[in-house]
Amino acid sequence: MKKLALGVLASGRGSNLQAIIDACKEGSIPAAVRIVISDVEDALALERGRKTGIIAVYLAPGKFKTKLEPDVELAYVKCLKEHGVELVLLAGFMRVLHTEFLSQFPGRIMNIHPALLPAFPGLDAQRQALERGVKFTGCTVHFVDESVDGGPIILQAVVPVEQEDTVDSLSKRILEEEHRIYCEAIRLFCEGRLKIEGKRVLIL
Ligand code: GRF
Repeated sequence: MKKLALGVLASGRGSNLQAIIDACKEGSIPAAVRIVISDVEDALALERGRKTGIIAVYLAPGKFKTKLEPDVELAYVKCLKEHGVELVLLAGFMRVLHTEFLSQFPGRIMNIHPALLPAFPGLDAQRQALERGVKFTGCTVHFVDESVDGGPIILQAVVPVEQEDTVDSLSKRILEEEHRIYCEAIRLFCEGRLKIEGKRVLIL
């Protein structure tokens, strides 16, 4: 079976990237990470990629803080396409993508978020959940659209909030589930089992 070509965008530590690389290597996902791109020059994610022989590049994001300039979006797209990427994975990528990018990969961009969307979108989702006093939170893999963390939901996992939890302890338990469901969602995509119907994703 031909391996699906993955492109990962990451701004930081890259633990989700690592989980995806490992799952590809051990064969639980019929895919391979072809390129890692970061908007942060010294992101650990780039190092993790290079360590396993994956092309990992820094592409300067331009003048904005929370998005890429339109021509930079095109540079990201060009780089992904040059490496034959079929599915784009945002893994801790801290910028919102817009039309120039999204229109090039319709239904082919996923993101992982550390909360049960639509609760607690945006930054610091684990802290938001703790401060709001919810008893359960978790994580969500979703397709990416123009909204912030509002695209069609693919998979979610529930994590109970303990009374003694800190942001760190809660984030750690959520992260374990992130690694599991992100890989699972990619596997379903590879098997052609995800069908988007409006805001719903059917698992075939
Ligand atoms: C994860 O919590 C992810 O849900 C969020 O950013 C964090 C990235 O972590 N979008 P890592 O870089 O994959 O370790």
